[in-house]
Amino acid sequence: MKINKSCLPSAITFLLMLLIPNYYTVSVAESLYDAVFSSEPRCYGLDDKDNTKTSLNSSAASQKYWPLRSSGTPLSVCEVWTEECSEAVLRIARHPETVEWLNRLRRRIHQNPELAFEEIETSGLIREELDRMEVSYRYPLAQTGIRAWIGTGGPPFVAVRADMDALPIQEAVEWEYKSKVAGKMHACGHDAHVTMLLGAAKILKTREHLLKGTVVLIFQPAEEAGNGAKRIIEEGGLDDVEAIFAAHVSHQLPTGIIGSRPGPLLAGCGFFRAVITANNKNTPLLAASAAVISLQAIVSRESDPLDSQVVSVTSFNGGNHLDMIPDKVVIGGTFRAFSNASFYQLLQRIGQVIVEQASVYRCSAEVDFFEKEYTIYPPTVNDERTYEHVKKVARDLLGEANFRVVPPMMGAEDFSFYSEVVPTGFFYIGIRNETLGSIHTGHSPLFMIDDHVLPIGAAAHATIAETYLIQHH
Ligand SMILES: *[C@@H]1O[C@H](CO)[C@@H](O)[C@H](O)[C@H]1NC(C)=O
Ligand SMILES: *[C@@H]1O[C@H](CO)[C@@H](O)[C@H](O)[C@H]1NC(C)=O
Ligand SMILES: *[C@@H]1O[C@H](CO)[C@@H](O)[C@H](O)[C@H]1NC(C)=O
Ligand SMILES: [Zn+2]
Ligand SMILES: [Zn+2]
Repeated sequence: MKINKSCLPSAITFLLMLLIPNYYTVSVAESLYDAVFSSEPRCYGLDDKDNTKTSLNSSAASQKYWPLRSSGTPLSVCEVWTEECSEAVLRIARHPETVEWLNRLRRRIHQNPELAFEEIETSGLIREELDRMEVSYRYPLAQTGIRAWIGTGGPPFVAVRADMDALPIQEAVEWEYKSKVAGKMHACGHDAHVTMLLGAAKILKTREHLLKGTVVLIFQPAEEAGNGAKRIIEEGGLDDVEAIFAAHVSHQLPTGIIGSRPGPLLAGCGFFRAVITANNKNTPLLAASAAVISLQAIVSRESDPLDSQVVSVTSFNGGNHLDMIPDKVVIGGTFRAFSNASFYQLLQRIGQVIVEQASVYRCSAEVDFFEKEYTIYPPTVNDERTYEHVKKVARDLLGEANFRVVPPMMGAEDFSFYSEVVPTGFFYIGIRNETLGSIHTGHSPLFMIDDHVLPIGAAAHATIAETYLIQHH
C-alpha cells in the first residue's frame, strides 16, 4: 500500500503555506478514520479451547468434522456454513503446530526482505511450502509470482492474493528477527500477507474434498513499485477467476479485527512532473508559482467535498543560482481521488492548469503523468456483493463485533488493477497491539505486526474462499 504520508512535500518553505489545504483534506480523512477506530478494542473471542488434541492430519481432521457420505452423513454439511464449520477451520489455524509454523515463516520472510520483482528467495520459500503441502502451481508468473490452486480444478474459480515485496527502508525496530538486509524492510506487512495466504493453503488443503470449485492463490510481486498486479493480469494470472479477495494488515485496527467497506476504499494515485520553460526573457518562476497556486484551487474550489481529492505539489526546482533567472522550472507532485471519473478529471485539470498558467506568463509547459511507466493507480473499489461476502464471513468466523465498516483512506494499492477486471473484496485485518507496541503506520521504520494476526488471517482467507465456492458453484 502506498501511504499518503510518504507524499509529504519537500518543497521550498514558502510553498508549504500553499499546501495547507491538502493537509486539511488529508487530516480530515485520517481523523475520520481514527474516530471510527478509536472505539474500544475488544472481542477476540478466539480463545484456544482444547485444540491440542486435534490432529493436523487432513483426513483425520476432516473425517472428524465432516463425516463422509460412506459413514451415512451427507457430505454437504458445510453447504450451510455453521458454527461448527468455523470452529473446524479455526481449530486448524490455531493448532500450536500451525501457529509455530506461521510465526517461523513470517520471521524468515521478514529477515530477508526483497524489493519489487526481486522476490527470488521469498518466492522460493513459498514454492517449497507449496511443494510440501502438495499444492499445484504455475511459476513463474510476472517474473517472481506464483499462481497456485486447490480444489476440483474446475469452475468456479475464486482467487485470493498476497503481495510479496518489501520496501527500501532501514528497519529501526530492535528485535530478534530484524531485517538482515541493510536498507530493506517489510514495512508494509507483506511478509504477513504471504504467511497468511500460505496458512490458508494449509487449511484449504485439509478441506480440499469439501471445495465446490477451485481456490486460486496469487502470490504477487511488486505491489509497492512496478505494478505487479498489472503484470499478473497481463500474464493470465486471473484467467477464469470470478472474484478476487485480499487482506492488508492495519495498525489502526486491533489485532484480528476485520474492516472493509463497499465501493471506493482506497484512492487512485498518480504523479505528475511539469517542465515550465521561458520563452524570450520571461521568468518561469512566476509561471510555476502561479501554477502551484492554481493547482490548489482545483481541489478547494472545484471538487465535491464529499468526493475527497488531493493535489500536492511536492517539488519545485529552479536551480541554485542567486544571480540568474533560470530558463526552466520543474514542478511535480501527486494527486489522489476516490472515483475513477474524478481521478481522470483531476489528471486532465492538472495538465490544463499548468499549461494555461504558463501561457499567461508567456512560458510553455509540458506535463508528464508517467502513464507509460505505470505509475498511475486507479482507485480500489469493492464490489457490493464481494464486500458483503467478506463481512458475512468475518462475522460468522470471528463474531459480530470483530467486523467494522471503515472509511475510505487516501492510501493507494495496486489491487485496484484487479478491481478493474473482476469483482474485488479488499479488507483490512488489524495488527494493533499496544502491549507489543505494534502501533506504527505502514512504511514507518518502526512498523511491526502482532503475530497473533497470522492464524486469524489464515482462517479468514480460507473461509472467504471456501464459502464463496459454496455459494457460486
Ligand atoms: C494421516 O492419517 C492417515 C490415517 O490415520 C495416515 O495413513 C497418514 O499417513 C497420515 N498422514 C500424515 C501426513 O500424517
Ligand atoms: C477509468 O477511466 C479511464 C479513463 O476514462 C478508463 O480508461 C478506464 O477504463 C476507467 N476504468 C473503469 C473501471 O471504469
Ligand atoms: C497483544 O500482545 C500480548 C503480548 O504478546 C498478548 O499477550 C496479547 O494477547 C495480544 N493481544 C491480542 C489482542 O492478540
Ligand atoms: Zn506499502
Ligand atoms: Zn502494502
